[in-house]
Amino acid sequence: MQEILEVLDRKRAEARLGGGQKRIDAQHAKGKLTARERIELLLDPNSFEEFDMFVEHRGTEFGMEKTKTPGDGVVTGWGTVNGRLVYVFAKDFTVFGGSLSEAHARKITKLQDMALQNRAPIIGLFDAGGARIQEGVDALGGYGEVFQRNVLASGVIPQISVIMGPCAGGDVYSPAMTDFIFMVQGTSYMFVTGPDVVKTVTNETVTAEELGGASVHTTKSSIADKAFANDVEALLQMRRLIDFLPSSNMAELPVIPGFHDAEATDESLDTLIPANPNQPYDMKELILKTADGGDFFEIQEAHAKNIICGFARMKGRTVGIVANQPMVLAGVLDSDAGRKGARFVRFCDCFNIPIITFVDVPGFLPGTAQEYGGLIKHGAKLLYAYAEATVPKITVITRKAYGGAYVVMASKHLRGDLNYAWPTAEIAVMGSKGAAEIIYRAELSDKDKIATREADYKARFANPFVAAERGFLDDVIMPHSTRRRIARALDMLKAKRLENPWKKHDNIPL
Ligand code: HXC
Repeated sequence: MQEILEVLDRKRAEARLGGGQKRIDAQHAKGKLTARERIELLLDPNSFEEFDMFVEHRGTEFGMEKTKTPGDGVVTGWGTVNGRLVYVFAKDFTVFGGSLSEAHARKITKLQDMALQNRAPIIGLFDAGGARIQEGVDALGGYGEVFQRNVLASGVIPQISVIMGPCAGGDVYSPAMTDFIFMVQGTSYMFVTGPDVVKTVTNETVTAEELGGASVHTTKSSIADKAFANDVEALLQMRRLIDFLPSSNMAELPVIPGFHDAEATDESLDTLIPANPNQPYDMKELILKTADGGDFFEIQEAHAKNIICGFARMKGRTVGIVANQPMVLAGVLDSDAGRKGARFVRFCDCFNIPIITFVDVPGFLPGTAQEYGGLIKHGAKLLYAYAEATVPKITVITRKAYGGAYVVMASKHLRGDLNYAWPTAEIAVMGSKGAAEIIYRAELSDKDKIATREADYKARFANPFVAAERGFLDDVIMPHSTRRRIARALDMLKAKRLENPWKKHDNIPL
């Protein structure tokens, strides 16, 4: 009997070694953890239960029948993060470079099916070379099965991808269909085709870092939502993110009780807006002073910095925050900001996370670069996302809310539930100077006259009261009471029920 038990121990020890000690050492030498070490760090201690540890591939081409490794390059299972259920798979780069065989794909799809059926987030840790080249179409079919499940789970359970090594081919397309992609600086890359293929096809010479490193994907392409310094930081931050997210679109928002007084006022906000309307200020100060404990998990921090998106908590419950950032391009909306904001708003709406919007926006960015780049369609994405969202929407206009951008940023007209403005707000079709110069074009040569016209326009519209008179604002509030008013509004809206007309699915301008 003892011998039989020992067989299991021996088989498990063999599986845990993956591609062998030499490859594990090579993984460590590159500054990367192994698949199992990563899972240990991500999950609560001793909570991981592994599935399919003894699964092997069935490939027979290119001598593959002689090279079988239990587990076949991916570790799958479930565990908890601060007590809450999550499913996790981690690609094991020490086994055929983490490449995906038919058997490997089945392990992942089994986990995807469980996560969807049992309504809990699924987290993929990627470090892999794409389709198992020796398996051909069996591997390609495996990816297809994974992709299909990514799509079915989209909007039902949170799906998170963490890129922790080189990722090519199918190992970038599956992450691309999940809700968030995170990367590790210096050791992770994402590309559909690597530098060698690029050289052959386009004759460009690029390094892996230049083609698909974290710096590229968090700034230029915006494929990645954030990058972390190393594996340990990335995994600990994933624990922090999971704490913000509900387990599914039917689950309650997590509540993290704290000692944060929602009735407290913050007098320093009364002087946040500079006297000069063209002088910027940091919108993050308002966000941090509004959120419980100043805890803010920012998404796409390095991309389209003119709009800020991220998760925070109010009275312990998760909220999504979207804010214009006057420090960058005066907070203008451009194509990148439109796309970034829209995707975040839609995530929040999928998962019933209330949205708080802080507005200081001078309009949409003019120019050929923007128009040729599709500003109309990208700006419309944000407009569409806000308009379709049925979650509680609370808006605070701190300063400028000009033109179409006023409408887009969760205005009353897009079913904003509570729309507030600070006394410093200016709600108009455009700034006073531009307005005077258009309405009184004939007087342009007379500088004094135009200055008077500008002053008149400013006196009439550079305030929140015209909008308040029409009921487009629910109240004009003191800056110091912002946190208190938002917290109360969220309480009031807790049981909000709003449904859009039935449809198969919508047709957002992609
Ligand atoms: C089988 C693979 C493999 C693959 C790597 N290996 N990729 N085995 N299939 N796709 C193996 C290597 O043979 C090697 O085995 C080990 O993994 C480590 O690989 P190295 O090349 O030594 O590592 P490194 O120098 O770090 O380079 C990593 C890499 C590179 C950038 C991922 O291996 C690479 O370019 N691989 C191929 C990528 C690719 O083109 N994949 C197919 C994509 S097509 P040993 O035994 O030496 O340890 C695809 C189609 C799906 O995915 C599309 C769906 C839409």
